[in-house]
Amino acid sequence: MKLLVTGGAGFIGSNFVFLVLTERPEWQITVIDKLGYAGDIETLDSIKDKIQFVKGDIVDNELVDKLVSENNIVVHFAAESHNDNSLTNPWPFVESNIIGTFNILEAVRRHKKRLHHISTDEVYGDLELDDPSKFTPTTPYNPSSPYSSTKAGSDLLVRAWVRSFGIHATISNCSNNYGPRQHVEKFIPRQITEILEGRKPKLYGTGENVRDWIHVDDHNSAVIAIIEKGVSGETYLIGANGEKNNKSVIETILKLMGKPMDEYEHVNDRPGHDLRYAIDNSKLTSELGWKPKYTDFEEGLKQTIDWYRNNASWWQKQKSETESKYAELGR
Ligand code: NAD
Ligand code: TYD
Repeated sequence: MKLLVTGGAGFIGSNFVFLVLTERPEWQITVIDKLGYAGDIETLDSIKDKIQFVKGDIVDNELVDKLVSENNIVVHFAAESHNDNSLTNPWPFVESNIIGTFNILEAVRRHKKRLHHISTDEVYGDLELDDPSKFTPTTPYNPSSPYSSTKAGSDLLVRAWVRSFGIHATISNCSNNYGPRQHVEKFIPRQITEILEGRKPKLYGTGENVRDWIHVDDHNSAVIAIIEKGVSGETYLIGANGEKNNKSVIETILKLMGKPMDEYEHVNDRPGHDLRYAIDNSKLTSELGWKPKYTDFEEGLKQTIDWYRNNASWWQKQKSETESKYAELGR
């Protein structure tokens, strides 16, 4: 098995590479990553002899064509991934998420390779807080932000390439990930590193918004299951029944870090802020027999907090620039 992993220097892609090297050491890995602001080559330093790394942009059609032709399966993580950034400057989202995915699809079609496309549950829009239903693979697409709409666009391209050209592809839509090596712009690492730097966590609006948290290794073990057992043309929803509102997540982080649970600030809300996401994972559990390992959120959070405590030199490089962007937005 020869895998081309796009976005393998980012949060989920790098954790995928680490997991595959442990769980499927016989698989060969090539990573393509443009090393944008969220990609860090140092993340892959300890395994640099075990993989091939190519610094490059998936918008570069010729490079994508060559790399796809040399591998059997593309596992496509590369994307602009942060909602707040998409509200400030949407163009990179259109470029990487839509044009980049188009290039990959065309190369997969030309060379008759397989694709696994990584996407988000945010393509489905949001749910009311008191709605008993969850997202399923047949929930209509209704994205809210430039981020989620460009991810939705990329999913629809994949579906169309399966139907129109018969390419061999699967899609997964996963809920919010947490774990080691996540950029400090994202909710959980931002709060942990604010506390480590002696400042207060920042809660958008009232904090009643709900996210369905999953540990990044559980996301990636599901991706391995889909690569091995998934049916071409199918969409799998990945989630681990981890619904929590943002206020309670901040309180838990404060508690685990030995701080008073009310020591946080309310900041400006995000425009168009989705209220609630929730995943029905029954297709994945029943058809592919997948189960999450991190069923205790506090245990997973503790491990994540320890990782940020022990790897300050990794995240400090990103911190001040990230906080100046938030300061301009009053967030
Ligand atoms: P990330 O921002 O940490 O990493 C993205 C990586 O892709 C970076 O290393 C970046 O340099 C690279 N990249 C971006 N554009 C590129 C381009 N044009 N060419 C080459 N490389 C490029 O994001 P993440 O959180 O690891 O997300 C990975 C994937 O998972 C994305 O497709 C995202 O939509 C999806 N996803 C994320 C979450 C989450 O909670 N973070 C949940 C569900 C799905
Ligand atoms: P985020 O990590 O940006 O993921 P997403 O927007 O994809 O869900 O944010 C998760 C939730 O946390 C979201 O409801 C916005 C909220 N949030 C805060 O309350 N404070 C923060 O500092 C950040 C970055 C996010």
